[in-house]
Amino acid sequence: QAAPDTAITELQPWNQNLGDGVDVSPYGVPSEFEAHVQRKNVEWLTADTVSSINFTPLHELDGILTPNGLCFERHHAGVAEVDPAKHRLMINGLVDKPLVFTLQDLMRFPRENHVYFLECAANTGMEWRGAQLNGCQFTHGMIHNVMYTGVPLRLILEEAGVKTNGKWVMPEGADASAMTRSVPIEKAMDDCLVAFKMNGEALRPEQGYPMRLVVPGWEGNMWIKWLRRIEVGDMPWHHREETSKYTDLLENGSARRFTWEMDAKSVITNPSPQAPLNHGKGHTVLTGVAWSGRGTVPRVDVTLDGGKNWHQARISGPSLPMSMHRFYFEFDWDGSPLLLQSRAHDSTGYVQPTKDQLRVIRGENSIYHNNGIQTWYVNEQGIAENVEIS
Ligand code: MTE
Ligand code: CO
Repeated sequence: QAAPDTAITELQPWNQNLGDGVDVSPYGVPSEFEAHVQRKNVEWLTADTVSSINFTPLHELDGILTPNGLCFERHHAGVAEVDPAKHRLMINGLVDKPLVFTLQDLMRFPRENHVYFLECAANTGMEWRGAQLNGCQFTHGMIHNVMYTGVPLRLILEEAGVKTNGKWVMPEGADASAMTRSVPIEKAMDDCLVAFKMNGEALRPEQGYPMRLVVPGWEGNMWIKWLRRIEVGDMPWHHREETSKYTDLLENGSARRFTWEMDAKSVITNPSPQAPLNHGKGHTVLTGVAWSGRGTVPRVDVTLDGGKNWHQARISGPSLPMSMHRFYFEFDWDGSPLLLQSRAHDSTGYVQPTKDQLRVIRGENSIYHNNGIQTWYVNEQGIAENVEIS
């Protein structure tokens, strides 16, 4: 006869005592048992935490939305703590009338809601030359996916009146790094937003409070936080972040210029090195996320044997353009080692390549835009490890 399960037979404190009243946590926090679910930094990656990055714990999440407190952070000069009353958005350059807006002014424009992923171009950059970091949080966690509320940038530019020779815009941040990038006017007029809410609440300071630029499907570096100015010009500015950074050196010595769109990509989040299979053989739920900067991801394939056999995964949840997709694959694990991979197909017909296929075209010097297929090796004990197979 089995010993009784004390989780059933014994009274727990929460059965016997009253809990906290409704006033204890007016802006709520997660359960204390979820305290391990955190954004994490990789200390050796950067010299200082103010010009650094932390990573979204993808292996602890489900569905498609990233909770605001877990959205990875990338700052070049720390988190600007901006007082919205002292914040202005200026539109200048090649416009009929230069304008200055307060947050309150922006709130009087028609606004829209859209779910978009933001992926740093450097996501998975440490994996170019081989498997390195042990966990999808670290290999793929420079991404988040939230619902933005904001004003189409087009409406703001139209208010100022873009001159006919206005072909580019340069958004600038109010932080000490004064981040700037060149964005072609076509994109600015198409789907960019000046956002002030994420997942319904005000942007977090880490994400650019009180306003940030949203550049759907394009590399995260262009999504200027603490947005204070948009200059309209007739040429790209070729600032630091689009010359010495965010370009990829190729084998022949030339560099790729303006690699704005994020290519289709996917990763299995569970099991993965930080989320081993600890239930033994039998029913197993594999899950992961997929996205494309060019549209939706109508199909994801997964393999359990390093690519010998592929199976179509089940996508559950909204399939929105330039937003994360959630996929599942349920299988009966026989307890033998697994080589897990996922492969995204986007709505343009593009299929996520292997890392070897990427290297044939791009060489080994790149940091940015690594969308190669990720492999996890799972041993008989269910422990998972980051590996590369050819
Ligand atoms: N905007 C400003 N003003 N300052 C910054 O340091 N970092 C950029 C971009 N916008 C940055 C910025 C980079 S490299 C990325 S990947 C994204 O913001 C990160 O956005 P997040 O911190 O909301 O994840
Ligand atoms: Co970035």
